[in-house]
Amino acid sequence: MSNIFPSPHPLVAHKLTRLRDQSTNPKKFRELVREIAALMAYEATADLQTVPRTVETPLSPCTGAELQEKIGLVPILRAGLGMVEGFWELMPSAEVWHIGLYRDERTLKPVEYYNKLPIEPTVSVCLILDPMLATGGSAVATADVLKRWGVRKIKFVGLIAAPEGIAAMQKAHPDIPIHLAAVDDHLNERGYIVPGLGDAGDRQFGTG
Ligand code: PRP
Ligand code: URA
Repeated sequence: MSNIFPSPHPLVAHKLTRLRDQSTNPKKFRELVREIAALMAYEATADLQTVPRTVETPLSPCTGAELQEKIGLVPILRAGLGMVEGFWELMPSAEVWHIGLYRDERTLKPVEYYNKLPIEPTVSVCLILDPMLATGGSAVATADVLKRWGVRKIKFVGLIAAPEGIAAMQKAHPDIPIHLAAVDDHLNERGYIVPGLGDAGDRQFGTG
């Protein structure tokens, strides 16, 4: 489990608990997703490469750092969309590449319905954003697409994972670090994470 990074941060735990609460309405739910995503962005980017950059302070030159890597955010539609704003607060120049997948309710397999990637990658590191890592089918399929696209450095950033989803990602893409707010107990017979938070897309968008 060396590339699994559950957040140790009390703010993440506090906000995640409010997110799970079934009485949290869609407006508050969206705010919490954005806020937790910003905290996760901080944790998931701790190893980004920098190059030295010298600026003039009012007193003297000062050599600091500038991000070297060009970052692409890849939200898995729909639910991953809600995490983009939180990331953009910290890295406003990150490009956003959308991938649309939904889970077939019967087979639980991902069905791709949208993909807005140019022919060649324009970024050096991609952060896959999706609140839920359940069976892992959607995350594995998205990482497959990004690797075919030619991206070498990929991370997955989610809010809640089931052990089954983590195992599927580790089997298919052992090179991809997984950053999470929490790892839950199990999947139920309908492929939902327990205790989880229900359907992340429906709770954000007020559907279902
Ligand atoms: C949810 C979630 C993930 C997927 C996780 O999306 O946002 O993308 O399920 O499940 P998996 O790990 O078993 O693939 P969903 O298919 O409900 O689509 P939505 O975001 O459009 O509601
Ligand atoms: N997708 C969700 O939105 N929630 C789950 O628990 C599993 C998949």
